[in-house]
Amino acid sequence: MYYYIINSSHHNNRRHLLFLFFIIILYDFKLSPCYAQLHDTYLTHYEDPSKGLTVFDSYTYKDGTILLQLAHFNADESCIDPSLNLDIIFPDGTINPLNVPIYQIPIYNYCMLDDVFMNSILNEYIILITYFIGDDVATTSHTGMIIDWNGNWLQTIELGIGIGQINININEDSGFMWTRQVNDTTIVWSQFAPSPMNPTEIKKIGSGFITISPISIIKSFQMFTSSDGGNGFTLVTKIQKTADYYVTDPIWEVYAIFLDKDAIEITPPYLLYQTPIDWADLVLEFCRKTTDGSGYNCLMSIKNNEPAPKQPKQPKGKGKGKAAPAPKPITVTTRYRLSFLSSGSVTNIKKLLSFGNNPNRDIEKFIPLYSGEFLIVYSPDDFGRRTGFFLTQEGDYGGAWKGLDSDIYHYEYLEHNETMWGMIVENAPYFWTIVTDRLRDVNVEYNYEHRNPNILETIPNDMIMEKGLDEITIQYDKPIIFSSGNISIYQIINDGNDLLRQTYPGMSEFTSIMNDTIVTTKVFSSTFSNPKASYYTTIDDGFVNSKQYNEAIMGISKNVWFVNTSWNEPDLCLPSATILLRLNADGTNYINGLDSNGFGNFYNNLMNELSEIVPIDRSRLSDTGKFQSDPFDSNQFTILQVEISQPTKYTKPCVKDVINDLDSLIRNKKYTLISYYPLTNMLDENFGITITHFILDVAFVIYYAQQLPSFFIPSILFLVIPIGFNSILALYIILKERYTNERFSKWLMHHTKLVSMFTILSSADVAILNMISSRLANLPYFSAPVSKDAEIKIFWGSFANIFIEDVPQFIIRVMYLQRNSIVYDPIPIFSLISAGVSIIFSLIGRTFDALYYKIPFSEKKNVGHEEPTDIIEITSNKSIEIIENQLGKDDDTIEIT
Ligand SMILES: *[C@@H]1O[C@H](CO)[C@@H](O)[C@H](O)[C@H]1NC(C)=O
Ligand SMILES: *[C@@H]1O[C@H](CO)[C@@H](O)[C@H](O)[C@H]1NC(C)=O
Ligand SMILES: *[C@@H]1O[C@H](CO)[C@@H](O)[C@H](O)[C@H]1NC(C)=O
Ligand SMILES: *[C@@H]1O[C@H](CO)[C@@H](O)[C@H](O)[C@H]1NC(C)=O
Repeated sequence: MYYYIINSSHHNNRRHLLFLFFIIILYDFKLSPCYAQLHDTYLTHYEDPSKGLTVFDSYTYKDGTILLQLAHFNADESCIDPSLNLDIIFPDGTINPLNVPIYQIPIYNYCMLDDVFMNSILNEYIILITYFIGDDVATTSHTGMIIDWNGNWLQTIELGIGIGQINININEDSGFMWTRQVNDTTIVWSQFAPSPMNPTEIKKIGSGFITISPISIIKSFQMFTSSDGGNGFTLVTKIQKTADYYVTDPIWEVYAIFLDKDAIEITPPYLLYQTPIDWADLVLEFCRKTTDGSGYNCLMSIKNNEPAPKQPKQPKGKGKGKAAPAPKPITVTTRYRLSFLSSGSVTNIKKLLSFGNNPNRDIEKFIPLYSGEFLIVYSPDDFGRRTGFFLTQEGDYGGAWKGLDSDIYHYEYLEHNETMWGMIVENAPYFWTIVTDRLRDVNVEYNYEHRNPNILETIPNDMIMEKGLDEITIQYDKPIIFSSGNISIYQIINDGNDLLRQTYPGMSEFTSIMNDTIVTTKVFSSTFSNPKASYYTTIDDGFVNSKQYNEAIMGISKNVWFVNTSWNEPDLCLPSATILLRLNADGTNYINGLDSNGFGNFYNNLMNELSEIVPIDRSRLSDTGKFQSDPFDSNQFTILQVEISQPTKYTKPCVKDVINDLDSLIRNKKYTLISYYPLTNMLDENFGITITHFILDVAFVIYYAQQLPSFFIPSILFLVIPIGFNSILALYIILKERYTNERFSKWLMHHTKLVSMFTILSSADVAILNMISSRLANLPYFSAPVSKDAEIKIFWGSFANIFIEDVPQFIIRVMYLQRNSIVYDPIPIFSLISAGVSIIFSLIGRTFDALYYKIPFSEKKNVGHEEPTDIIEITSNKSIEIIENQLGKDDDTIEIT
């Protein structure tokens, strides 16, 4: 992400090396006595001298891991033995030899030494090895073999036709670019990147041409990583002089072209520089994006041939007319720093006046440094010693570099701790040693904690001591504005697969800026959820931009800014819980198309995904669950039921925390892993999670029956009919008493309100009317002198209730459960139980009434089969009529009274 070595990290010694022989023993020791005074020696390695191996190629990964290729050259150094000796040397000094399958590599590759085996570490999983298929340089297919860090073959890819160059993007997600200048006016490019879901798989994501007008030719080009993680090209072109050429017409021109990260959009060429002077040469030594949001810097060298200084005059007439050789012109190099922005506007062209002590000395390498400066390394002196000097980002001289010892064959800059590593090779005995050296004697203080010179401070910095941290602040050293790069938080999981907790771009609702320099970002409650875990935060380049230039400021890469959590977990945890999730439109459509097997798989896979995301032990989530469409939702999205079981000693966290985390993860779905997995991505972020709770019995009809229209009508019917029946009966009984029972009539005058209340209440069950004559606590309210006749009616009325209300409702619920094996937990069950219980109570109650008061049997007998006179004795005369009327011609009853 911030590793600004591009071309320089590849070091290919090829045939420049001496033959080196390595002997058998393989061991490490600290501080080799020979070099102790200057370097830290961290690894010395002896090889089998009988193999006659020598260093052929090396690549240094950003963490200091080295990929080394050794080879045995033939006598005239035109070929190497057909084998691939690759080693990975880890920063801790361990060496891992790779056993790469080479049968795919045609034999002529071992003689194409200048171009073959441009090996690179692409990311922490994979390595690229390049070779050719076809030995005609014009038509050969440049081929890449992707292997893992153990040397296992993963993939073979065609990079392009002809011998091209490879440029590894600083941003690992952007992979690498293969380019080749096919003729004077055209460069062909192809971009390859790891697939986002699987970083071990490389895909070609785009390709195309860059062409210029045919009156010019491309003299050279450079590639660099652009602010958005895409690629930039700088082209140096020279106009072909024609007849109608004017003196003021430009000859040399420099252009920049940007290709976005997805290799889709390519900008027009932006003119950065032009000159009408016909310089001997004009090259860009390198270009790179700056780390501080000031755009891009290139180092431009202009070469001019100047006449040699006049020779001391030779005395005339001497010699035999043999002219002294004409003095050769000397080449003078002038260097410029060229700065520009992504928009193509040039911010500065600065002539570098003091370019080291010796401006004409050959320069071997330009190394961009962590601080934004550059290290300029001279070609080795006669003793093989390398020295150089620092150049500030502004192009000023920044002091001398004392250099590496005489016999360094390879050297590389390790940005992660600002050191140089170098390889020393010795012949007696034959071994190689890797030494490291602090780049500077003076300790320059940078914020190594974040490996970002633009960041002054962050809160929190290393520890979070209590739950519920809700924001992170980052203080920059310059005014900034938000841009599209992401800030992401990962949890470190033991098996090495870090778990993304949250991610969102700078320009989002979760970020704010104070005082132009202090960024505050929101932390979701699910993010730092584990009480004892390690997390790291990454910031993309271009999370913030420089306010001055609106150019990306570098971010923080993986595994740099760590935060550990440490607080005590509660001892008490909730028991298990049942929750509901809702699927969105896609999810609802998806499962509507599934059969029951399909649903089973869907459910199981969904639970697998959730268990990885939360994370929670898979065994704590149910294996099967029920679903149905959401009755509260107009879209009828589907609701799923999930059970979360209690934690054990080994399967934390508490159910309550799981529920809270999951709710936050789903609600912030777009910014969490929920949207990264195929099935969890179908969850509805507007719903989050609901914990199920009980709802009243009557709710069943209103909320649940309507999902199944066939139940709706009966449910309503068997709710409305009993209510109507009970209300009418209750009213009828009261009125009847009022007009036929004088004692009741008197009592009623004093208790009208109570009676009207009970009349309403008894619409649920007419038996409630019994209350007013219950003599409860001997209160006058509850001592209505109700006639036996009324009691009988109440009894039969409530008996009827069992059949017109309780039993039908019970049947509906049973049918509902059967029809809908998928249950909107647990209300229908509850309502089923309550309906069942209600029947039992009613039966018991009526039986009790019957036995205790002997209401129905005596009366029923009398009413049904005996003469009414019997009853007259018990109650009043008129009750018989009433009973007769009730049983016979109900309609007239009221008129009769
Ligand atoms: C820098 O890192 C390399 C490899 O990771 C290590 O060998 C070296 O000792 C480090 N240098 C310093 C000064 O810490
Ligand atoms: C250069 O190559 C491109 C692509 O192959 C081709 O279209 C173009 O005509 C060539 N130009 C010249 C001058 O040969
Ligand atoms: C930020 O993350 C989102 C989602 O992962 C991704 O689509 C986007 O490209 C990222 N932005 C940048 C600048 O990488
Ligand atoms: C913002 O700037 C003002 C004045 O420069 C300063 O007093 C204040 O403390 C700053 N606020 C923060 C949060 O740093």
